Amino acid sequence: MELQNNLFLRACKRQNVERTPIWIMRQAGRYLPEYRKIREKYDFLTMCKTPELAAEITIQPVDILGVDAAIIFSDILVVPEAMGMKLEIIENKGPKLYEPIRSESDIKSLNNTDHLEKLKYVFDAIKLTKKLLNERVPLIGFSGSPWTLMTYMVEGNGSKNFIEVKKLIYNEPILAHKLLNLISDVVSDYLSMQIQSGANAIQIFDTWAGLLSQKDYEEFSLQYISKVISQIKRNGEPVIVFVKGIHNLDMLGACGADVISIDWTIDLALAKKQIGNKVALQGNLDPAILYAPKEKIKEEAVNILKSFGYGSGHIFNLGHGILPDVDPVNVKYLVEVVKEESKVFHQHNFFTRE
Ligand code: CP3
Repeated sequence: MELQNNLFLRACKRQNVERTPIWIMRQAGRYLPEYRKIREKYDFLTMCKTPELAAEITIQPVDILGVDAAIIFSDILVVPEAMGMKLEIIENKGPKLYEPIRSESDIKSLNNTDHLEKLKYVFDAIKLTKKLLNERVPLIGFSGSPWTLMTYMVEGNGSKNFIEVKKLIYNEPILAHKLLNLISDVVSDYLSMQIQSGANAIQIFDTWAGLLSQKDYEEFSLQYISKVISQIKRNGEPVIVFVKGIHNLDMLGACGADVISIDWTIDLALAKKQIGNKVALQGNLDPAILYAPKEKIKEEAVNILKSFGYGSGHIFNLGHGILPDVDPVNVKYLVEVVKEESKVFHQHNFFTRE
């Protein structure tokens, strides 16, 4: 059976669309009362590891908001967990990885043999979600980038000044590269298996891209993102790379991604000028705009559509994950506004539509 709504996949490939597709990073989450209802009964990791629950939560925003893609409910930190680290998501505090990786022997203790077996629940969740979605919209699989995963694995959590991971790359670069290579291979296997299980596209989250200078970014992050993308076994499924805090987008154009997803501090028109002829772009509304009144949400959404301008190759999204206390009514309004107001930017395709 064919996908009923393939706008998202077409936009990833910069093919013509009749309107701009929209989905929202972290669209399945605490801002939805339907999510919180399930969350009352189970802890977060149990939800990730129970395919029936993960599938139900993944589909909630498709039903409630009408977004053009689903993203599998999971977390980037299940990868370090599958590599042998103890993971806990602490209520109101965030994730914690115990016994952070700081030395050669720590790296040696990591598992890279049965990671796919340990992550089987993700593949099962993808298969079940695909079945239950019944081809309504595409399903996105994801992983953290090697650099962003290494940051969590070395720091133990995300809340410090990132001194430990900086010490590792500057004092022991050979060790850092060893760890990045190890993570890259695990991530490549993981993403290939997500595609094999039915994911229609992949997003790589490089949330901590902005911690590094441009030169160091190329050496410690982008190089490994390129490596992962070249290793993923896929059959045309697009790859999206989300970066936060990167202002020289030029270098991202050649990493092999089909789509670059950017935060709200960069103007889409400028981003399009820098790399828009090589890749599609995703983004980039400030997530905090969703606290504003409807008129403001509309004004800012239209500004983003205008900033990208005419033609395909844009996927509307936030510039980072949705915040846990926004009103779902406003999110639904944003989805409707983008669907309606974006049509005009695709009308010239009338003459060239395939
Ligand atoms: O987009 C989706 O709807 C899919 C689910 C998803 C989650 N985490 C669920 C989640 C995705 C794609 C992620 C990615 C993720 N996780 C990233 C990269 C993207 C980003 O936002 O930067 C990062 C850095 C993490 C690590 C992580 N997991 C953090 C920092 C936290 C705690 C902060 C927070 O938002 O609470 C988590 C926990 C987490 N991951 C929750 C959800 C819904 C909240 C858990 C809960 O219900 O208590």
